[in-house]
Amino acid sequence: MRLLQVAPAMPENAAPAIRADLLAGLSAAPATIAPKYLYDALGSRLFAAITELPEYYLTRTEAAIFAEHQDAMAAALGLSATLVDLGAGNCEKAARLFAALRVRRYVAVDISLHYLRESLENLQQKHPAIEMLGIGLDFSQSLRLPAEVGTEPRTLFYPGSSIGNFTPDEALVFLRQAHAECCGGSLLIGVDLVKPVDVLEAAYDDPLGVTAAFNRNLLRHLNRLAGTDFDITDWHHVAFFNGRESRIEMHLQALRDTTVRWAGGERRFAAAERIHTESSYKWRSEDFAALLESAGFLRPRHWCDARGWFAVFAAPA
Ligand code: AVI
Repeated sequence: MRLLQVAPAMPENAAPAIRADLLAGLSAAPATIAPKYLYDALGSRLFAAITELPEYYLTRTEAAIFAEHQDAMAAALGLSATLVDLGAGNCEKAARLFAALRVRRYVAVDISLHYLRESLENLQQKHPAIEMLGIGLDFSQSLRLPAEVGTEPRTLFYPGSSIGNFTPDEALVFLRQAHAECCGGSLLIGVDLVKPVDVLEAAYDDPLGVTAAFNRNLLRHLNRLAGTDFDITDWHHVAFFNGRESRIEMHLQALRDTTVRWAGGERRFAAAERIHTESSYKWRSEDFAALLESAGFLRPRHWCDARGWFAVFAAPA
């Protein structure tokens, strides 16, 4: 097993560029913070807890689709010895596909190499015959895999509907880069679909308040990264489906008039004013297939659950 840090992981004492980016988003009207800042150590654990919630159907629905259709997916993808897992985390989703996809080389990519190290060590013990490489890389702006991945055709794996956190324009750019980066191989990608609004909204505003904690924890992360003085008790979690844009929006809404200060600046928020923290786009399967084709992929196939809530696409380059 080898590990490689390509770009610096997000440091706790953020680089000036990260601080400037965050403060610019905070000062804008409306204020926005990029969703990648949801994932400090606690945020990653809270997201893992979200995936266990009964209301958050995405993870278990996708897992069931993989379990049922993995052989058909392998046939549609064609054989590549290398599986590149984008946003690998604990590597569990990919590991379940090793046998069906006949993986001989596994490349796990994640913003946090720290998190990957332990997951890969455990996985390497279970699969000693598979060559493993862990890469610390933030690909949220641009997907460029390092030379160490080689030039052989590979299957890129992007599950969990993480593509939904890109706008449609950004998704197209990302998929074009994925098309180039699979070197004539293929893409296996999970996408959440449009469905009744009550189901969608419950998944992003659960009664236990785990998603609210995940969202509000962003402010603590921001206090550390940008030196702001957010008091999280001034803010509450809001999530709703925006039908015109076909996306769930997460916001933090001020409970009262409040001023947030940092070295050299401040931002006043009136009661009920919001900070937009995440969009999670929901696709129609035919639109997503067309998007894959626009990005250069050929004849994408997809599999859904019986309710048509989630789809997994296999798209040869
Ligand atoms: C990581 N991403 C696909 C999740 C989603 O559903 O958009 C993040 C998330 N946000 C709130 N709950 C889960």
